[in-house]
Amino acid sequence: MNNENKIYKPNFKCFESYQQASDFVGKIIVDLVNQKPNAVLGLATGDTPLGVYSFLVKAYEKKEVSFKNVKTFNLDEYVELKSIYKDQSYAFFMSHNLFSKVDINLKNTFFPNKSEDKLDLNKKDYSEYDKEIEKTKLDFQILGIGQNGHIGFNEPGTSLESKTRLVPLTDSTIKANSRFFASENDVPKYAVTMGIQTILANSKQIVLLAFGKNKKEALKALVNNKSFNKDWPCTALLLHPNVTIVCDKEANPL
Ligand code: GLP
Repeated sequence: MNNENKIYKPNFKCFESYQQASDFVGKIIVDLVNQKPNAVLGLATGDTPLGVYSFLVKAYEKKEVSFKNVKTFNLDEYVELKSIYKDQSYAFFMSHNLFSKVDINLKNTFFPNKSEDKLDLNKKDYSEYDKEIEKTKLDFQILGIGQNGHIGFNEPGTSLESKTRLVPLTDSTIKANSRFFASENDVPKYAVTMGIQTILANSKQIVLLAFGKNKKEALKALVNNKSFNKDWPCTALLLHPNVTIVCDKEANPL
């Protein structure tokens, strides 16, 4: 990790609304891609980044930006998603909300696995993904946050040394994500996620987005902890020198 585990203070930017916060982050990405057309973006799924993706689509439609040479690495993906839920895969989400609406080359978009992959508890090696990320680095990593403080699918208890790997989802995450499935039983029980080390060691800039009152407690953990606390994986961000937390007033912990 970062040599002596130095602690940094993340920047906080809290906005009146989801829209304002999303536009703020969208603009940072547009400016970055205009400055560096082959920028590498680390992307998240969930409701949280939807406003940012819609800002990017609008900017593309107005010809303010091109994603032709951009490369993306998604944070996570389910494993063994039932075929009736194909549209719940994170690859589908990205295609539907961003990739199919801009000029990105799909060959430059990466996921840590395929959602329909059979669950193989013996497969321990997902290092290919980390190797690709280490090669290019991530100019900009966008993160959402789980109510229990997870980032990607790095659930409470995850170590700082974690890399891309297969993980079981916690009951609280399965419950939170069951809103997209007919029943809790249908939510995949496993996912492959970038590890905390993958994120911290390779991201040049991280923006964590948090909206709504359900995320306030997790953000409070970020403010109140003085170092990494395994119970709140988001506190790993205290070890990165360039983190901005972007929230709305409901999630504002300050
Ligand atoms: C999911 C994803 C995370 C995401 C989080 C919050 O389980 N794996 O990457 O940040 O939960 O989701 P939402 O933005 O829908 O609240």
